[in-house]
Amino acid sequence: MSKKSLYERLGGYDAIFAVTNDLLDRMEKDPQLGRFWQHRGADGVKRERQLIVDFLVAATGGPLYYKGRVMKLSHQGMRISEGDWTIFLKHADATLKAFNVPQAFQYVSNGSIHSREGSTLRTLYFPNASSSGPLAY
Ligand code: HEM
Repeated sequence: MSKKSLYERLGGYDAIFAVTNDLLDRMEKDPQLGRFWQHRGADGVKRERQLIVDFLVAATGGPLYYKGRVMKLSHQGMRISEGDWTIFLKHADATLKAFNVPQAFQYVSNGSIHSREGSTLRTLYFPNASSSGPLAY
């Protein structure tokens, strides 16, 4: 019997797409985090969302090739603070609760998901992961 990928266990593309959009809506509306999306063109924001979906699909074993930039490079210079990161985790938690995401997501905190650079991804979708900083992944 073949073992299902994390991507499949999470509900596949549509589930990851919906969760990503929910979380990014929360982040963009947040009074503190909203600054990261101020004065950006609508098309650029959509493009970025798609890259995040692709990233998560690829990182969970789904059938996409992530062709965006590596995490460290794409966030460098944004001045994401520890406070921003804490707010982000709070929104991630709210999104997870809203979607009733199964325990499977917690696999990530144990290292099931890796960024292309090879380090463990500690992210929004995994509230139990302890973060060592905004660029830990
Ligand atoms: C406080 C936390 C975060 C903030 C404020 C943030 C903000 C942003 C912003 C503003 C961009 C657009 C950059 C651009 O278009 O030039 C971006 C890109 C991106 N972010 Fe984040 N981010 C955060 C955390 C994360 C996490 C945890 C992940 C991993 C799931 C992630 C994945 C990505 C990806 C895949 C891109 C696209 C990379 C590319 O353009 O090639 N971000 N982020």
